Amino acid sequence: MEGEIIVENLVKEFIIRKRKKGFVGSILGLFYTQKEILKAVDQISFKISKGEIVGYLGPNGAGKSTTIKMLTGILLPTSGKILVNGMEPFKNRIQYTKTIGVVFGQRTQLWWDLPLIESFDLLRLIYKIDKKIFQQRFDEYIELLGLNDFLYQQVRKLSLGQRMRADLAASLIHEPFILFLDEPTIGLDILTKDIVRKTILELNRRKKITVILTTHDLEDIKSLANRLILIDKGKIYYDDQIQTFLETYQTNKKVTIHLEDEFYFPDFLNSLNGFRIIQNQANRLYEIEIPKEKSVSTIIEMIQNTGGKIQDITVKKQELDEILKLIYKNKTIEL
Ligand SMILES: Nc1ncnc2c1ncn2[C@@H]1O[C@H](COP(=O)(O)OP(=O)(O)O)[C@@H](O)[C@H]1O
Ligand SMILES: [Mg+2]
Repeated sequence: MEGEIIVENLVKEFIIRKRKKGFVGSILGLFYTQKEILKAVDQISFKISKGEIVGYLGPNGAGKSTTIKMLTGILLPTSGKILVNGMEPFKNRIQYTKTIGVVFGQRTQLWWDLPLIESFDLLRLIYKIDKKIFQQRFDEYIELLGLNDFLYQQVRKLSLGQRMRADLAASLIHEPFILFLDEPTIGLDILTKDIVRKTILELNRRKKITVILTTHDLEDIKSLANRLILIDKGKIYYDDQIQTFLETYQTNKKVTIHLEDEFYFPDFLNSLNGFRIIQNQANRLYEIEIPKEKSVSTIIEMIQNTGGKIQDITVKKQELDEILKLIYKNKTIEL
């Protein structure tokens, strides 16, 4: 129950009003408004267990934030069922918020005009945390997130990176079972991204906190998530372990070969099944794509047999972003 998320047939519809010109209107320059229903989230179901870190991915407008808002009790679903930590978010608001942590990269939950440290004093009172326990946790987060240098700064004067680190600490101070992160690294520099990621991993390791995060930065996914849920137009079209995702869709590997001397590379590669030359620079640098089950040694042998000397060779599997781009472009995954 604790640390668990159950979503069944979740739907969120927005009514949007569009200004349109009718026939008469177009003559008279009049508009009328027409109501349209937008299904931002369309029959979504999933179950997340305690301790999982789930990447919730999809293009802009896919319905990610709308899902997170319903899961955190900010938005009321049109229909469907949500059970988080054994509670219905919208029904048990006050009790529920004590069991979750939420970070929206675009917004802050801190008090804008107060020095940072006072926001934490207020959070301690709101969550009714014992002073001694609070101090212990707070010290832990100061250390993990490096908050020491700006504890007495007014929140509005913090840089985005400082504010995000403070926001993360604030979302964790009551030791929630589940952490919801909507674009937690957006706009951050590499070092701050790294601190944010390390803190999330550390919390997951130490306290088995469940994490669901949306992001545009696939480094977040690579370094954090063990499971991937892909959505588009409000529907889920993939849900499985990242490892499984990669094994299924990593169909090729890329071999880059540097030759010592310029030498004429015969067309033999083209005649081999499944091999594809992507790039050929000055007959010295070759980039070749081969099916992942084929062996690189075939290429090496062929080059050596035709008198080529290899200076350097690298082999790379397709990266997560490459596969995702392909999938978004072709929608190769069937619903
Ligand atoms: N309050 C709202 N009123 C009307 N439409 C909305 C509202 N919030 C979101 N939408 C629409 O719902 C769709 C999903 O939005 P959102 O969940 O924010 O997408 P994402 O976070 O994946 O980029 C978009 O088409 C967006 O325009
Ligand atoms: Mg969003």
